[in-house]
Amino acid sequence: MGKSWLQDMILDEARELVDDLTALKENPIDPTEVITPCANNVICGIAYGKRFSHQDARLRRLTELIGKNLTLTAKGQPVDFYPFLRHIPFTKFSTVLKECTKNNEEIARFLQDLVDEHRKVFRPSADAPSDYIDAFLKQQYTQRDDPTSTFTDRQLIMSIHNLFAAGTETTSTSLCWAILYLIENPKVLANVQKEIDSVLGDRQFPVLEDKEKLPYCQATITEVLRLGNLVPVAGRKTVEDVELSGFIVPKDTKIAPMIFSVHEDPVLFPEPMKFKPERFLDADGKFISKVEWLMPFGSGKRQCLGESLARMELFLFFVTLARNFTLGPLLGGAETPGHTLMRIVNAPKPFRTSFIYRS
Ligand code: HEM
Repeated sequence: MGKSWLQDMILDEARELVDDLTALKENPIDPTEVITPCANNVICGIAYGKRFSHQDARLRRLTELIGKNLTLTAKGQPVDFYPFLRHIPFTKFSTVLKECTKNNEEIARFLQDLVDEHRKVFRPSADAPSDYIDAFLKQQYTQRDDPTSTFTDRQLIMSIHNLFAAGTETTSTSLCWAILYLIENPKVLANVQKEIDSVLGDRQFPVLEDKEKLPYCQATITEVLRLGNLVPVAGRKTVEDVELSGFIVPKDTKIAPMIFSVHEDPVLFPEPMKFKPERFLDADGKFISKVEWLMPFGSGKRQCLGESLARMELFLFFVTLARNFTLGPLLGGAETPGHTLMRIVNAPKPFRTSFIYRS
């Protein structure tokens, strides 16, 4: 994650994103519809070494299925705390389980097709693996005589599925929060665009080297990660008895660190519910990159595996969007915009806006 070749892949998506939005001719759209295929394609590139057109029916279906499962699960319902409830027949919990299983089977078939296509051209003697599937197949081949090897096709499918589930909706939802906060805070959008124009000039797309010269943009993205609380509650279990503030937490206790309780603490972040990128700038306007209490990617040994990739994507997509478009007014769907939907990924309720091309 975070390697420079990923930049080219992300920029390919950024180009198609600009084309998709321009083709709309300022007709309002729910931004998730255009951004999620980009995030999915980046994971396709890592896993499979290829991207799909945003109109490709298989990519669209995959995006739909992943989105459906994230909406169906972890909504803070009793079944999330007492998982055995899913086995009680004819309850909504068992129905949800059935639907998720059906969706997962379809996702697994899609991924198995990708693996099968790869296997046809796989050469164990090739030096450098070209993508994740290739690297996995190589290891599978090396361990082919070991009956205890965990390099099975099922393991491969589940690992790729994990990358899609953890790495697509999180990134695209962060960008949707960014769009929402920019619409609600036009001064921030104006500052962002002024900074981008002064650094990019006529260039339509940023590169990672621009990052240092765009402190206000970096501060804005960081504020999106703080206030957006993308993964508000992480899931852990103690592996041994732990003493915490004088209490003993026994081994095997489920722990749910609430990241938002830190991000919204008024002592750590004054006026926590206000969107203020300036809190991440020092007196000289330099970006403050290290803030102990900021943990959008969790903390510790199991913190987000995709953090560097996510940060690359957020920077390149965010700057591309602000460089190329000004945002129209906020239009709600059936729901009031701006409030959150409770699920694994903390998302804004659906909203639409128009993207007005800046030449
Ligand atoms: C803005 C985007 C993202 C956010 C906010 C985010 C946030 C998180 C958080 C809070 C965790 C839990 C960490 C913990 O338990 O302390 C996590 C885990 C994880 N994330 Fe991300 N993530 C993002 C993007 C990505 C991407 C792009 C990928 C993969 C390509 C990814 C892959 C993973 C994986 C595999 C885990 C589980 C790690 C483990 O258990 O060892 N994430 N992420």
